[in-house]
Amino acid sequence: MTLAVAGLLRSLDAFFMSPAFYSILHVFSLLVLTGFTFYAFAAPAECRKKVMIITGIASLLMFISGFGLITKLQTGFPTWIIVKLVCWLGVSALAGIGFRKRDKAGLFMAIILALIFTAVVTVYRGRFAV
Ligand code: HEM
Repeated sequence: MTLAVAGLLRSLDAFFMSPAFYSILHVFSLLVLTGFTFYAFAAPAECRKKVMIITGIASLLMFISGFGLITKLQTGFPTWIIVKLVCWLGVSALAGIGFRKRDKAGLFMAIILALIFTAVVTVYRGRFAV
């Protein structure tokens, strides 16, 4: 029994330290951050605290998983990572703006989409060297 448990713990440890786990966490937290950032433009004011907590945690997990990927894939800090850090900072900073700037919803949603698009392009451009 103990051998089986030890084996299970070893494989769990290997998975939670793997690039696959960091990629899953990275993309999932990106989806949560994006979803709740847009929700903020339509959510009732009383949801503000909950939305800010969720986007804050998602933004932090994106950052941690991003550095996990940098470490595991040994990417170093090429320009595309710096570009992504700027995009992440921009999206995270705009996470709660939906509650304060409803009158400029269209503008801020376009800026957030442009930041996310830029970050996604840099990843695949970097990875496929196109
Ligand atoms: C708005 C900001 C960001 C977006 C939209 C974004 C999106 C993505 C996506 C879609 C992937 C590909 C996942 C896959 O196919 O495996 C990825 C990979 C990656 N991201 Fe991000 N990311 C962002 C911010 C960051 C930040 C802040 C960091 C570093 C701290 C980071 C570091 C990485 C690394 C190292 C990879 C792996 C690249 C590779 O496989 O060659 N990302 N990101």
